[in-house]
Amino acid sequence: MTTPHPGLSESPFLVAARGGQPAHTPVWYMRQAGRSLPEYLKVREGIGMLESCMDADLVTEITLQPVRRYGVDAAIFFSDIVLPLKAVGVDLDIKPGVGPVVASPVRTLADVEAIPDLVPEHVPYISQAVRQLVAELGATPLIGFAGAPFTVASYLVEGGPSKEHARTKAMMFGAPDVWDALMRKIAGIAAAYLRIQVEAGASAVQLFDSWAGALTPADYRDSVMPHSQRVLAGAGELGVPRIHFGVGTTNLLGLMGEAGADVVGVDWRTPLDRAIPLVGDRVVQGNLDPTLVFAPTEVMTARAAEVIEAGRAARGHIFNLGHGVIPSTDPGQLTALTEFVQSYPR
Ligand code: CP3
Repeated sequence: MTTPHPGLSESPFLVAARGGQPAHTPVWYMRQAGRSLPEYLKVREGIGMLESCMDADLVTEITLQPVRRYGVDAAIFFSDIVLPLKAVGVDLDIKPGVGPVVASPVRTLADVEAIPDLVPEHVPYISQAVRQLVAELGATPLIGFAGAPFTVASYLVEGGPSKEHARTKAMMFGAPDVWDALMRKIAGIAAAYLRIQVEAGASAVQLFDSWAGALTPADYRDSVMPHSQRVLAGAGELGVPRIHFGVGTTNLLGLMGEAGADVVGVDWRTPLDRAIPLVGDRVVQGNLDPTLVFAPTEVMTARAAEVIEAGRAARGHIFNLGHGVIPSTDPGQLTALTEFVQSYPR
């Protein structure tokens, strides 16, 4: 394991994630690296998304870009939730403006069994990029991440992005043995992927269950949560704080915390004052509406102040948007927002 930078454990992000009192409210943005940055578009010219994720030097550069530009309190590793599937040999691509597309969707037990487990040899560029990043980042923490079993299953079963997740949920309701095998397979891959990142030096992890909000609490608890729980327990054994995030999860926030999260990410539709009692004695992350960056700066920062004030009722608060940065976002607005949050009185 890489020796951690001496300033890392005192970084506002890690102090807050562990429930301590940081010097300022830490801030980072989901999808902070990407199409809203001209320097990103420049380095990505002519290179496919997955190809970029497999180039350690490019991953390092892209991950650092938002840290340099905004001075955010954490970096998030540049990759994608479907990268580990690609790495084990699943035939998929990320289509610009569409998202992940899987050539042969998974429908049967044989389809599930054909997916290999992930071993470090599948992703040498991941450990290399993490090591390079940790050396460059110094006292700024690197967040590793993986897609949660339900969200990744949706791409595998639907074959691409989906609003209703109908085939995925039909498998969950109608073919519980295939579902269980699929969820176990993805959970194993996610746990291995997180372990590789943490062992190379990532100091926190986020599990993205972006589409879990499509489930009732009972279905989430019975058919999804046990698998996410295994992934989070694996990361917990490595001693790093775990963030658990999904979209439209008002009804699931309590369970998402119980699944083994130190920090529960909240999307912008649930006000923090409502979310905090639901997550209990945990740190919250979020949750400014990502479209507020298109409003005048004073309007955006006034709303950010409301989010920070509401966050005071929680065990701890990490400021973020309520979902990813929208590609047409003006980077200048995120610079202003970052400065505003970091200088807001504690
Ligand atoms: O800055 C960061 O947050 C780190 C990088 C990151 C990406 N994807 C890069 C990316 C992270 C953390 C993800 C996670 C991810 N990928 C999620 C969970 C987070 C969420 O948004 O809820 C999901 C559901 C995916 C699947 C996926 N990959 C989608 C829906 C898309 C968007 C398709 C599009 O083009 O609109 C992608 C592609 C993707 N992942 C891009 C980036 C920068 C855009 C591709 C490009 O720049 O060509």
